[in-house]
Formats: sequence, structure tokens, C-alpha cells
Amino acid sequence: MRAFLLILLISTVSILLLLQSCAVPVNRTSPSTSGEELYQQKCSFCHRPFPPESRGMEEWVDVLDDMGPKAGLTGAEKELILKFLSERSGG
Ligand code: HEC
Repeated sequence: MRAFLLILLISTVSILLLLQSCAVPVNRTSPSTSGEELYQQKCSFCHRPFPPESRGMEEWVDVLDDMGPKAGLTGAEKELILKFLSERSGG
């Protein structure tokens, strides 16, 4: 009986440990995610991502003020996306 309880305890603990390791969010944005990746990930959720060349920087700043909250961007993510767009934008 003791052995049974011990096995039960060990398996419960290992299942809990396993579950805990799964609970780590996989999709968390790592600091190394580039602006381009962020743009593709966050801005293609509701519509296709617009080509970066399709707008000038002033328009992109306005667009991100509008779309940033929709996409749930953090300040840092918004900065990275703007930086990526500034390298590609139509001026
Ligand atoms: C929650 C859904 C959603 C997400 C996420 C989203 N958009 Fe949009 N987007 C829309 C909708 C709806 C419209 C059309 C209506 C409007 O302009 O608000 C739109 C329109 C646009 C337009 C055209 C509007 C214009 O004035 O030229 C651009 C450009 C755009 N989105 C860029 C982005 C970018 C960049 C991101 C990422 C930061 C993004 N969107 C994320 C829903 C979304």
C-alpha cells in the first residue's frame, strides 16, 4: 500500500511539473524579434499586411496610432515596427 501511494505521489508531481513546463507561453515576443517579423505577425491578423512602400512615414505614424491599439502593440513593439517601416517606406 505504501509503495502504491509513493508511486501515486511521484506520478502526480511529475505530471504537475510537465504541465508547468507547458504553461510557459510559447508565443511571447522575444526581444530579438525584428520589426519586420512583428509587422508580419501583428499586422496581418485582420487584413493582409499593407506593403511598407505603400505609405510615407508620416502616414505610417498615423496608421500605427490607429492600428497599434487594435493589434495590442506595446510601446517597444510599436517603435520596432516604425523603425522597420522607416527603412522601407515610400518616403
Ligand atoms: C483588430 C484588427 C486589426 C489589426 C490587428 C490591425 N488592423 Fe489595420 N485595419 C483594420 C481595419 C478594420 C481597417 C479598416 C478600417 C480602418 O481604417 O480603421 C484597417 C485598415 C488599415 C490600413 C488602411 C487604413 C488607412 O487609413 O490607410 C492600414 C495601413 C493598416 N490597417 C495597417 C495596420 C498595421 C500597420 C497594423 C499592425 C500594427 C494593423 N493594421 C493591425 C483592422 C486591424
